Parts: sequence; C-alpha cells; structure tokens
Amino acid sequence: MKLIYQNMLSFLIVILTTLGIILYSVTSTSTTSEYNRTYKDLESYAGNLEKIALKTDSKTGQIHNITGDNIKTVEQVLSDKNVQFAIFDYQNDQVYPTPPTNVKLHLKQSYWNKLKQGKTIRNIQKPESSEGNPRLSNKKDNLSYVYVLTPWFQNGKLIAAVWAGSDVSQLQTNIGELNKRLYFALLISLLAAIILSFLLSRYQVNRINRLRGATRRVANNDFSVHIESKNTDELDDLANDFNTMVKSLEASDKEIKRQEQRRKEFMADASHEMRTPLTTINGLLEGLAYDAIPEESKGQSIQLMRNETNRLIRLVNENLDYEKIRTNQITLAKRVFDANTPLKDIVSQLQKKAAESKDKLTLETPEDELETYADYDRFVQVMFNIMQNSIQFTDNGEITVTGYRADDRHASIFKIQDTGIGMSEEQVKNIWDRYYKADPSRKNRKYGESGLGLSIVHQLIENHGGEIHVKSKLHEGTTFTVTLFDEGYEHKVDTDKAPD
Ligand SMILES: Nc1ncnc2c1ncn2[C@@H]1O[C@H](COP(=O)(O)OP(=O)(O)OP(=O)(O)O)[C@@H](O)[C@H]1O
Ligand SMILES: [Mg+2]
Repeated sequence: MKLIYQNMLSFLIVILTTLGIILYSVTSTSTTSEYNRTYKDLESYAGNLEKIALKTDSKTGQIHNITGDNIKTVEQVLSDKNVQFAIFDYQNDQVYPTPPTNVKLHLKQSYWNKLKQGKTIRNIQKPESSEGNPRLSNKKDNLSYVYVLTPWFQNGKLIAAVWAGSDVSQLQTNIGELNKRLYFALLISLLAAIILSFLLSRYQVNRINRLRGATRRVANNDFSVHIESKNTDELDDLANDFNTMVKSLEASDKEIKRQEQRRKEFMADASHEMRTPLTTINGLLEGLAYDAIPEESKGQSIQLMRNETNRLIRLVNENLDYEKIRTNQITLAKRVFDANTPLKDIVSQLQKKAAESKDKLTLETPEDELETYADYDRFVQVMFNIMQNSIQFTDNGEITVTGYRADDRHASIFKIQDTGIGMSEEQVKNIWDRYYKADPSRKNRKYGESGLGLSIVHQLIENHGGEIHVKSKLHEGTTFTVTLFDEGYEHKVDTDKAPD
C-alpha cells in the first residue's frame, strides 16, 4: 500500500476510534440524564397530586375519601408533556381513573410490597405488556410510558399509591434529535479528518519524495544537492544527516579522484624514472656487445651503468622501506641521546652539497646537551632527508637548522628553515604523499627524484608518536618543524590507520 494511504488510514483509525468513544459516552450520558430528568419531574407531579386527591377530615385529620375529581385538570395542564396519573387506595384498588363497573384493577403485588416499604418505583412500560399495570390495560393506547410509582403514607401507614407516567415518545424524540446532531457533527469531523489527513500525508510523502529525488541525484554523482531543513522533526534530522552524508561522499569522491590522479602520475613517473636508467644501461650494453665502445671509454661506461643500477636499487629500496614503515614491520630502537652529535654529523656531510648550490648551511643548537628520545638511525634519516630537500630546492640561499628543548611540552623541537623556492598551499597539502613532486620539472635535479623522501619522513615521525609540520611560501622559503616527545609523552600511534 502506498505510504500516503497508510498514513491516511492510521490517521482515520485514530480519529474514528476517538469519535466513536466520544459519541458513545455523549449519547449514553444524555439518554440517562434525559430519563432521570423525566423521572424526577414525574415524582414531583406525583407528590403534588397528594393534596388534590386526598380528602381528609378537618377535625380528625383522617382520610375519608380518595378522589380523582381535580386530577383531570392537572392532566390537562400537563397535556403537552403527555403526563397521566392513576391512583390506588390502601386496598390496592384503582380509584382513578375510575375503572368500568365490575372491573377491579390492582397493582402487581410485588410493586405493592415495595411501596409498602416506602420505595419509589421507576420503570418503562412497553405497549405490548401491561405488566399488570391497570392504568395501561385500562387505557389500551399503543404508547410506551416512562412512569413512577410513589407511595403515600399517613401515620406510617400506606394509604395510597400514585402512578405518574409520561409518553416515552417525547423523550425519545428529544434523544433522537440530540443524536441526529451528534451524527451530523461526526460526519463533518470525519470529512474534515479525511481532508486533513490527506493534506498531512501528502506533505510528509512530498518530503520523502524530495529525499528520494536527492538520493537519485547523488547516485548519479551529483553532489550539489542540498535539502532544506527546518530542524523540527525526524524527517528534518534525516535531511540533515543526508546533507552531511552528501558532503562526506563529495569529499571522498574528490579524494578518490585525487588519488587516482596521483596513481596515474606515479605510473607515468615510475615508468619514466625506470626507463631512463634502463635505456642508458641497455644502450651501453649493446655498445659493449657490438664492441662499439672504444677501449678507453669502457671503464667510464661501466661506471655509468653502475650509477644507473644504483639509482634503480635506491628507488626499489626506498619503496620497500616505505612499505615496511607503513605496515609497522620495523621496530624502533628508541633511546635518549644528545641530538647535537647526529645533527653536527649530517650538517658537515651536507656542507659540500650546500656549497655546490651556493647555500649557507648553519646549525644552531644549545651548547649543552640536547636530550632527544628517538631511534637514532631513523632520526638521522629524517633530518638528512629534510635538510637534503632544503639544499635541493634552495640556490644561493640560507639553510638554518635549529634544535631546542621545549620542557613544558616534554619534547625536543627541530626546525629546518630555508630561503628556497617554497611551495604553494596546494603543493604543501600533497608533500607527504608518496611519489609527489611539487613541480614535475624538479625531478631532474641533483638529488632526490623519487618523491618518496617526505612520505617516509612523515611515516617515521608518526611511528615515533611525534609531530611534523611545514610552513612554506612560494619563492620565499620553507620551514619544517619536527617535534619528538620524551618517553611516556608521545602521541598514541594508531597502527590500524595505515595511510596509503
Ligand atoms: N624545502 C623544500 N622547498 C621546496 N619544495 C620542497 C621542499 N621539500 C620538499 N619539497 C617538495 O616536496 C616534494 C616531495 O619531497 P620528497 O623529499 O618527498 O621527494 P623528492 O625530494 O622529490 O624525492 P626523494 O624521494 O628522492 O627525496 C619535492 O619534490 C618538492 O617538490
Ligand atoms: Mg627529498
């Protein structure tokens, strides 16, 4: 069943049940109160009748006659209410209306007994049963009566009983009228309920359809969808969740595309990187095979081939190293050492390269010990890589390496600052990626051509539970900051979350 009909049905079931209960209770209450009112009226008429019907001796106060003389007048006054009376004397003989001669009319003995106890009887008289009620058997009209039977006492003795009845049809007409109005109200509310439930259901279904439409668009890779939400109900919550989902889908879609692009670039780069040395080696080998290389150049050719094979080996090794670090296959032998020693070593090793690029490479560390907690060899690898990059991308500039303690953070901090070519924001974002080279034209520079260096550095620092940040401005320079924490203060390393 369509959602709109399901909704309408549930609305209607609730409304119908409510209306049914209201209708039942209203009709039953009004019927009961109508009857009660009639009984009360009849009881008060019957009471008032006493004075008219009983003729008492003014001296003794004794009853000497029960008469129906004036009752007719009362009946006429109450004719619009169809009220009629019957009176029975202390012997249970009907004295009003006077029965035909030779006929004696009585009340049922059970009624009479009750009356003797002072009880009033309230009842309904159906036309088909006389119930031993002399009034009706006498009158032979075809009406139903609501009636009361009340006793009259004098000095504790039952002296007479009066039957006061009213045609029930009037009462039923009143109740019927009331019910008619109620049914009409029910019909109107039902119609209003159907219209309202239809409108409400359509509103909800429209909102769901809007979500469906949006989902279809997202399935077709359209991430520009946004569903308006007023934050009022669960559907709005769903819309909010949907919007968040679309945003994250868009982000991962972009990331996938970026990764795909990077993979393509890597394939092109890797092939290029490998093809160049392989072509050189192949050319030289052919030359040697066909004796096309003069004897005196053979040594040089072999040296060239060795250089090229070394380059290939380095490329493969770095790849393997990265994979090992990434998958936590290496164990770090962390210990506390004075970072001055390795830093001085690296700087002096790189001085020659710095001089080739006409760079000034300086080291600024505290005179006393620069306590650092790390894997010594990996620390050297990290610093060497970053400094090598700085020299690689700086000509006629300055490279300053600083190291200091940040005791408040329980860490040693190292800054490698250069005044080189710098990077744009977009380039900075990608430098930790494997095979990334900010500018492909840089790849033929003297050092570093695989684009693996920084991804290895990043992974190593992460494994140390440390931090690495980079700040760079195009054409102005770059600063790398490495923070290595003391034992027990490292960041927790999430080994499950291996980057690609
Ligand atoms: N100090 C720097 N100044 C400017 N650009 C830099 C600097 N350091 C790194 N980069 C950019 O980041 C890229 C990635 O550096 P990374 O060290 O990972 O690779 P690489 O130096 O090209 O190759 P290798 O794997 O041999 O180190 C570099 O190609 C360069 O474009
Ligand atoms: Mg490098």
